[in-house]
Amino acid sequence: MGYERSISAPEHAQTPETVWKLEMPRIRFGRDAVEELDFQFEDLGVEPGSHGLLVTDETLLGLGHAERVREQLGEYELDVYDGVEREPSIAAIEDCISFVRDERGEAGYDFYVGLGGGSCIDTAKTTRAVIANGGQPLDYVAEPTGKGESITESGPPLVLMPTTAGTGAEISPVAILSVEEKGIKEGISSDHIRADAAVLDPTLTTTLPPEQTAKTAMDALGHAIEGYTTHSYDSLLRAEDPATRPVYAGRTPVTEMFSEKAIHLLSSNVRRAVHNGDDLEARENMLQGALMGAISGLTAGATLCHAMAYPVGNRYHTYHGETIAALTPASTLGYNAASDPERFADLAQLFGVDTTGLNTREAADALKEEYIQLQRDLNVIPSGLAELAGIDEDDIGWLATQTVETQQRLLRCNPRPVTEADVEGIFREALYNWE
Ligand SMILES: [Fe+2]
Repeated sequence: MGYERSISAPEHAQTPETVWKLEMPRIRFGRDAVEELDFQFEDLGVEPGSHGLLVTDETLLGLGHAERVREQLGEYELDVYDGVEREPSIAAIEDCISFVRDERGEAGYDFYVGLGGGSCIDTAKTTRAVIANGGQPLDYVAEPTGKGESITESGPPLVLMPTTAGTGAEISPVAILSVEEKGIKEGISSDHIRADAAVLDPTLTTTLPPEQTAKTAMDALGHAIEGYTTHSYDSLLRAEDPATRPVYAGRTPVTEMFSEKAIHLLSSNVRRAVHNGDDLEARENMLQGALMGAISGLTAGATLCHAMAYPVGNRYHTYHGETIAALTPASTLGYNAASDPERFADLAQLFGVDTTGLNTREAADALKEEYIQLQRDLNVIPSGLAELAGIDEDDIGWLATQTVETQQRLLRCNPRPVTEADVEGIFREALYNWE
């Protein structure tokens, strides 16, 4: 069965899973979809005159995107919280929660809108969840960092609008927050934290600078590739209770289909979107690719690469997408390729690699080369962890220990068993993807 729960699970639970599910927010996609935001709220049953909160940051306020949202919600009262910080800490999210309690008391707002990259979106998701369920964010973070309480209430309607094509946070059942005093990143995961609707409008993404476009695209590709190469749902153990089935539950025929399309869209449009940000067709394809990658990777489950990225991001404050970019060749495309060579050969073809005459091993190697070439073509991606954050040999031991000790949620999704020594070797290789 190749899955660690099989070792410790009671005998009666050692049967393979036979059921998969796909839970998604309502999705509205396309150019000027933002102009249907009022209808989206009406469709969710929000009465005119209701009082809502827009969660965003100062940059997006300055770019005029928040004003576009406000114009569409003229029938409602709308407060704005623009204090979101990048890769938000617990304290930053608590600040947003305090804002809500100060303005509206424990009951909070009638509806919430999150506008921005993953940080704005995760702040909006966590704020609504904590207001609806009470307490503070750490109550819902897994033990031993938090109290490990369950989120049981979804709360009032939440609509999310991404301004990057990458994180997939607008459809995911997870919010990421950094626990600064422990130097780690944690996720709050629950189907109840997921938004009610996601409105994806490529015209909101054209203002994203080339560097951010490239980095978020690498995150999106990571979701698509990791979703394509993780365990199949029926190689995992059957959930004892439908309510406790994990949110990352393995790949299914449906997530696989989304990965295939996502990998094609992202790999064939990212150069255009990075080098010409006003190319709306490329932006639209990237946003669709990122959405599809997220539907796959954030349902099936991200794997080793994401597990290794969190300790790096937390210690060195690197962007999530550039960390994924640095780690993908050695982890997903290197170490994990041995888990299923034929699948990686198929992945190479999806990526546009000509695999004629190559055996599966050679095809997987060619895929890794193509992926690195793509990064080099984008001109803004660091050549590895050394350039990304000055990481060197002396840092590897700590990073590997942190990965193994804090990221079991993701590591148990990895298609190939991994030891701390393996992780050290992968970090070492990821120092330099090219010279
Ligand atoms: Fe990610």
